[in-house]
Amino acid sequence: MRIILLGVPGSGKGTQAQFISQRYCLPKISTGDILRQFIKNDDSLLHKRIKNAIHNGKLISDTIVTKIVENRISKTDCNVGFVLDGFPRTITQAKIIKKNKIHIDYVFEFKIPTKIILKRTQGRRIDPISGKIYNLDDNKYFKNKDHMNLIQRNDDNKKIIKKRLEEHKKFTIPLINYFHTCTTTEKIKFYTIDGTKTILNINNEIKNILD
Ligand code: AP5
Ligand code: MG
Repeated sequence: MRIILLGVPGSGKGTQAQFISQRYCLPKISTGDILRQFIKNDDSLLHKRIKNAIHNGKLISDTIVTKIVENRISKTDCNVGFVLDGFPRTITQAKIIKKNKIHIDYVFEFKIPTKIILKRTQGRRIDPISGKIYNLDDNKYFKNKDHMNLIQRNDDNKKIIKKRLEEHKKFTIPLINYFHTCTTTEKIKFYTIDGTKTILNINNEIKNILD
């Protein structure tokens, strides 16, 4: 199964990608996570450019991101399929998947209103070792005995989130419209998910579709 998860910042892509990856034994490919890991390890000009773009809420160039994904997808563990979290984000990125003759089975788009986006992203905390995603609003956060060591993303502040939303509107909304046109011609199954439901309810909705 090859799956794409789309949606505004904080809509639950990463949370559901973890669930899908575990339940269906599919590698999770999160371009945001890969880029954050990448900029941690070096200080070259390229790293600085990527770091600046992320910290200004801007998308990274299609060329860089697609190279990362093409390279990752070519690994043997992706022969069984994969779940793409946050890629593609532009029509150009989607066309590169098509050019590589990679057939996508499912696209899920998560939708939430803006006021929830701000609350969720500001309350998000991440386990730096496992990458597991938490929220200050969720009991699981306080049940994690190491919750004091969980970290907050640098781009999870109000000003940058607004910029990330503008990028979504400019590049990803047109991509979503593009996918709608592909559902019949390329047999991609497209589902819009109400991201305001509970995490468990969304897990169940996805299970009902994929099982
Ligand atoms: P990326 O890391 O992908 O950030 P994003 O798209 O802005 O999305 P988020 O990770 O913020 O949100 P999410 O939907 O994963 O939500 P989550 O599950 O964590 O990208 C970061 C940057 O990298 C970009 O700005 C860009 O610069 C660059 N980049 C990445 N990919 C790129 C690409 N393809 N092209 C170009 N540039 C790229 O949930 C959020 C919070 O809500 C958590 O605390 C969670 O616990 C909670 N939560 C989740 N679901 C629920 C629910 N149903 N109910 C209640 N709480 C919930
Ligand atoms: Mg994410």
